[in-house]
Amino acid sequence: MQLRVLAPAKVNLYLRVLGRRQDGYHELITLMQPVDLCDELVISREGQGLRFTCDDPSLQRDNLVERAARAWFQAAALRPRVHLHLVKRVPVGAGLGGGSSDAAATLLGLNALYDGLLSPQRLYELACGLGSDVPFFLGGVTALCRGRGEVVEPWPEFPLLDYVLVNPGFRVSTAWVYDQLDLPWTKLPEVNRIYRLQSQCGPLPAGLLANDLAEVTKRAHPEVGELEGALAACGALGSLMSGSGPTVFGVFADQESARRAARRLGRRRGWWVRACRGIQA
Ligand code: C5P
Repeated sequence: MQLRVLAPAKVNLYLRVLGRRQDGYHELITLMQPVDLCDELVISREGQGLRFTCDDPSLQRDNLVERAARAWFQAAALRPRVHLHLVKRVPVGAGLGGGSSDAAATLLGLNALYDGLLSPQRLYELACGLGSDVPFFLGGVTALCRGRGEVVEPWPEFPLLDYVLVNPGFRVSTAWVYDQLDLPWTKLPEVNRIYRLQSQCGPLPAGLLANDLAEVTKRAHPEVGELEGALAACGALGSLMSGSGPTVFGVFADQESARRAARRLGRRRGWWVRACRGIQA
């Protein structure tokens, strides 16, 4: 028996860090939208044990797919008999949530293959143990996420936007970016502002795009600022680094202008460029 699961990337349209927590994580408020750039996971019930293969040889051993699968089989009290093959299309270490999405796809796929053995609540608990963004990917819809990212409030009415993603071709460590942050403790007026935006559903609510992590990544990699400028010059309504970066996305008025901009930006050597759209599971 075999199952194919798509694991979409995400962009952070808004990310404010509210403070450092006792457990070493940071308290966040972030608005994330899944997009139609997806990894593909093929899960087959076969063989003995857990076998993982990937078309990208650079993916580390003990990656999030293997960890998610081990966690699922342990929670289900079953001996693993599975082959997981990952087709990687989302850049790694890019701020697009690829690894977290692969982990969520593994949990959802295994659970579907075994007739919904684990409850949604148990899957959520496993997701929380695998990474802060993994619970968001279980839902697959635009959501406002709080806590360390695991408190997911779906926002399905939020418009599905047209994007161009530009990645400069290097990876950034999320842990390193958070470690470099130097922040005041609270930003409560900011938190209230994002809730007010819920009532404003234009193509791109004014004043939405903001990311506290961008400053840190830009300090170390000024090229990230250059990507924002390049997207603006190609007609983006706004542009912002996603997550801990270094990928920058531009928001475009429609699919045609996004595709046109992607063609122009794709000529730049060393840049990975894709036009994509927000999706709803
Ligand atoms: O949760 P995840 O494993 O994806 O996080 C990677 C790293 O990013 C954490 O080890 C932590 O250093 C940092 N992080 C954080 N606060 C968050 C999410 C992540 O400090 N809310």
